[in-house]
Amino acid sequence: MPKRYLIKKPIDAIIAEAKSGTLKRHLGPLNLVSLGIGAIIGAGIFVMTGTAAAEHAGPAIVLSFILAGFACALTGLCYAELASMLPVSGSAYTYSYASLGEVCAWIMGWLLVLEYGVSAATVAVGWSGYVQSFLKDFGIFLPPQLSSAYGDMVTLADGTQVMAIFNLPAFLAICGITAILIRGVKESATVNNIIVFTKLIVVVTFIIVGANYINPDNWHPFIPESTGPGQFGMGGIAAAAGVIFFAYIGFEAVSTAAQEARNPQKDVPIGILGSLIICTILYILVAGVLTGVVHYSQLGVPDPIAVGVDNMGLPWLSFVVKVGAIMGLTSVMLVTMYGQTRVFYIMSKDGLLPPLFSKVHPKFHTPHLNTMTVGLGLAIAAALTPISVLGNLVSMGTLTAFAVVCFSVIYLRRVEPDLERPFRCPGMPWVPLVGIGFCLYLISSLSHDTLVSLLAWFFIGLAVYFGYSQFHSKLRKQQKA
Ligand code: ALA
Repeated sequence: MPKRYLIKKPIDAIIAEAKSGTLKRHLGPLNLVSLGIGAIIGAGIFVMTGTAAAEHAGPAIVLSFILAGFACALTGLCYAELASMLPVSGSAYTYSYASLGEVCAWIMGWLLVLEYGVSAATVAVGWSGYVQSFLKDFGIFLPPQLSSAYGDMVTLADGTQVMAIFNLPAFLAICGITAILIRGVKESATVNNIIVFTKLIVVVTFIIVGANYINPDNWHPFIPESTGPGQFGMGGIAAAAGVIFFAYIGFEAVSTAAQEARNPQKDVPIGILGSLIICTILYILVAGVLTGVVHYSQLGVPDPIAVGVDNMGLPWLSFVVKVGAIMGLTSVMLVTMYGQTRVFYIMSKDGLLPPLFSKVHPKFHTPHLNTMTVGLGLAIAAALTPISVLGNLVSMGTLTAFAVVCFSVIYLRRVEPDLERPFRCPGMPWVPLVGIGFCLYLISSLSHDTLVSLLAWFFIGLAVYFGYSQFHSKLRKQQKA
């Protein structure tokens, strides 16, 4: 490959740029842990756990959560080192620009659209499911054609089946989040803190109350006998880990807020690892309680946690769980979309995306045009695509990005050994190497169709790079000058 495509951004320049940024620095360690939890607990636990248990792992979904959590912990340590070393908004995109060169950075930025942007759209679809279930409890029904992704078959009041055209609640959810993000980060952080608190209370209540309703018979056999590839047995545990990996995505979104953190070197690692540890413990407990309360075969529904509560015969808790899920999913959309706009912001600053993405609103100090463009794209995606298609694509894209991040840590230790690293990933090089191994293993457990979609996304990205970005790259212009 010609050298111009592998041009690397000097680390000093990255740090200097971060210091001269126009974004305000007002996020402390608690805000950052809350940002992480806000991004992590969402559709993965509230929606996807059910299908993963019913179709892949049974009660052994608990082991799938441990497996996926372990992969994330290894990657989290790598993210923490890079984020403490390069406390800038661009996250994995910037780390790749410094270590692997421009074209790899572009691809990474493009993968992050899946990890942040498309995951916000995925969660919007889950949000729509819980909102509709909540409204139904009050006798309010949406026109079925406007309740699901284009092409899904839905049932009308008279029993006839028709094709859905548009998921209206999912579309409106993304529009609402866009408006909040344009208004400003400080306000968004406050909204986020309130929502995260509520979400945690709901999850903890489910665990504590549910523990009294566990029927140990539901845990036998703990690992159901395999009925085919990826269905139960050991293969099923891996397949479920690939699916519920989605539940962990979000801890790294903390790194996208580095430029708005008061003390990024110390607080960003706290935010990443703190939120990851809290969520891993909660997930393992929720999965154990859920499969103990309801037999796994009954969990293949859009609102498995609500089914778990219904089995306990506690209507008040069912109401609380639905409200909590709706709020929880809202905060995930808020944080992941926030991450997406900040990655585009920094890519635009580098000239790889048009300048409109880094224009900051004079009063709100937020990248408003960027947020509107991202919001519109995601609202359309959320309205037209089923959750499983979006979710698996997000998981595969993110796992690929995680593997590159682990590799970047090893690479930067070799080429920039003297750089200040306020947080150092322990167990080098084994932690990142095992992290890469886990990511590749989980990728291999996802479906072939998802791989095809990911490759299509990858080639579209390369077309944009070679058609636009390479001619506008600031780094290349500077080098030529
Ligand atoms: N981890 C986030 C969720 O589960 C993306 O919704």
